[in-house]
Amino acid sequence: MGLRVAIAGANGFLGGELVRLLQGHPHVQITVRTAGRSAGQDLSDVRPSLMGPADGPLEAFDAASIAARADVAMLALPHGESARAAEALLAHGVKVIDLGSDFRMPDPEAHAATYGRPAEALAVRDQAVYCLPELTGGPPAEAQLVANPGCFATALSLLLAPIAPHLDPSVPVSVFGATGSTGSGVKPSAGVHHSLRVNNFVAYKPLRHQHMGEVMQLLSGRGRTPPVRFVPHSLPAPRGIHLTAVVGAEALEGSPLALWREAFAGRPFVQVEEGTVPMGSVLLSNRARLGAVREGDDWVLFAAIDNLIKGGSGQAIQNLNLWHGWPEDTGLPVVGAWP
Ligand SMILES: NC(=O)c1ccc[n+]([C@@H]2O[C@H](COP(=O)([O-])OP(=O)(O)OC[C@H]3O[C@@H](n4cnc5c(N)ncnc54)[C@H](OP(=O)(O)O)[C@@H]3O)[C@@H](O)[C@H]2O)c1
Repeated sequence: MGLRVAIAGANGFLGGELVRLLQGHPHVQITVRTAGRSAGQDLSDVRPSLMGPADGPLEAFDAASIAARADVAMLALPHGESARAAEALLAHGVKVIDLGSDFRMPDPEAHAATYGRPAEALAVRDQAVYCLPELTGGPPAEAQLVANPGCFATALSLLLAPIAPHLDPSVPVSVFGATGSTGSGVKPSAGVHHSLRVNNFVAYKPLRHQHMGEVMQLLSGRGRTPPVRFVPHSLPAPRGIHLTAVVGAEALEGSPLALWREAFAGRPFVQVEEGTVPMGSVLLSNRARLGAVREGDDWVLFAAIDNLIKGGSGQAIQNLNLWHGWPEDTGLPVVGAWP
């Protein structure tokens, strides 16, 4: 038997992708699948695409029961639920990777200021290690609680971290982003209702998206950084993230292509290229594509990821791999599917 893994929120968008990807992982066995209101059903009743070897009963969350059957729990739960689940699991000796936002900002005051709700799990939050593997490295072997980055935060950090210290810190960088509807989770709401979304394109949370907290935490921890102005948009598509930024060449020391290539040399999932990056080409893969075009006095920068994979489940498996000393691409797709 390999590493025994519990997936909390297995019928949600990220949890379902964890199940799908991990069923092909050579060192992992999924032993527990939990759900909220869907508990009591089989996973394939709720997500028919998961019929097969990884199928099984969806259980209500119970930390003691999980501890009897799992070494690691991967939490794909709503805000707040992760904090409570992680605290209970750690008390029972189960290691945790949280795919939600409850542990991305260890400082309770920074968390409250970013998310507009108080930090929970105060007894364990200082154990959390935030890991975006290409920028922070993977979790150290002794870590008990890993905080997986947000989807927009992953794309923004990969785009900006290698170049931020080389930008004029007095010139703000504006980034325009677009995301698919799966970014909002499986529960229907007006913002993700197909009929209202499919013929629409709209900005939301301009300059106040919650992922900027973790992005600025990461950027400022690496040295000087300019202010970042981020405007996200809702795409009429189910999955994918695309970013565009324009940077004056006089505000940047060096070429973004050279800086990215140096930062990501040898990393299997980050592809750097001159030109634009089609979002469709990264879907269903753990790949991040970064592109740059020099036009007159400006650089135009692009990033594309699959929000559910590099922006969530795939990156969590990448962290699981590095944590356990396996090659970071074990069980993960580098090549996507298009269409
Ligand atoms: N979607 C993305 O692109 C993305 C990317 C990165 C990070 N994240 C973060 O990852 C987490 C999961 O996101 P998601 O999009 O996969 O969410 P989701 O599709 O809404 O799934 C949430 C899961 O949690 C379960 N759940 C809900 N309330 C619960 C409760 N009170 N107790 C136990 N289980 C409960 C749901 O089960 P039932 O349906 O049976 O109630 C479902 O399995 C969120 O924190 C999100 O912010 C999302």
